[in-house]
Amino acid sequence: MKDHTKKLAILDLLSDGQFHSGEELGEVLKISRAAISKHIAVIQDWGLEVYKVKGKGYALSNPIELLSEELINHANLPSPKLLGVIDSTNQYLLNNMDTIQSGQSCFAEYQEAGRGRRGRTWVSPFGCNIYFSLYWRLEDGLAATMGLSLAIGVAVVDALERLGCSNLKLKWPNDIYWNNRKLAGVLIELSAQSGGAAHVVIGVGINVNLNERFDSAIDQPWVDLNTILEKKNIRNKLANELLISLFHVMKEFEYSGLSSFIHRWNELDNFKKQTISLQLGNGTVTGVCEGIDPQGALLLTVDDEIKSYNGGEISIKKS
Ligand code: BTN
Repeated sequence: MKDHTKKLAILDLLSDGQFHSGEELGEVLKISRAAISKHIAVIQDWGLEVYKVKGKGYALSNPIELLSEELINHANLPSPKLLGVIDSTNQYLLNNMDTIQSGQSCFAEYQEAGRGRRGRTWVSPFGCNIYFSLYWRLEDGLAATMGLSLAIGVAVVDALERLGCSNLKLKWPNDIYWNNRKLAGVLIELSAQSGGAAHVVIGVGINVNLNERFDSAIDQPWVDLNTILEKKNIRNKLANELLISLFHVMKEFEYSGLSSFIHRWNELDNFKKQTISLQLGNGTVTGVCEGIDPQGALLLTVDDEIKSYNGGEISIKKS
């Protein structure tokens, strides 16, 4: 793994959004101004805008709230690991599955290769959003994971609502929407052997302060939390609420599966009674959304008949 200590230390200083001269940064980090300039170039590649003004030095275009152990650690829950730079928080937990305990989690400031569902890239600029993963071991194996991703969608909505967000909806199976724009997504990756426990990594990405510059990299309408709440510095608070919600939902899910979440999921359905197109591997089906069944399959009225779908994607075009 590359050593990013110096860049992270520079970002710690720049996070206040004020100008810091190359001289000051060089002195604190005990490196030359030329070295500072090289580190700044990489920081820009991490998705941050850094201004350089003659006579003033470097400043971020906007201050950032870095993740903080003191602010996130919740007394009753296992402490999450706070990572600076990582390929993907899901991959980090998958790589360490043999040595970590169920309930271990991590947040990252930046993902070099954040991934979304269906092989998409998850845009993950430094310090702007939430990138979170949780490892859970389900003793009852693969069958016990049925509908899990829908329950996690509900958990994310619960956390966001406690921060003051309203009008949140879910797009099957687990995208979190606000006014028809995507705010957050869930990616669940698992490994299980027949007869054994299921090892589940639950990844959650929430847009908190996502710059318009990233619009072209995202193939659907999106929104961030700062726009909805018009509040700044909510990353640590959100991280804390997310941890609490996910633990709560996982405990409930372990005990009673999807059943306790179906009613709530249907209440949050973004497309309830709306006509939608579902893209399947072998074509598209159009029907009216009727919510989810006890297994978490999407129910659609197609040609006057209710049919259930386990796969596919509701298509939303960017206008
Ligand atoms: C989606 O496509 O909607 C799912 C997005 C999931 C993104 C999160 S960010 C944290 C975790 N690590 C990843 O690489 N992906 C998930």
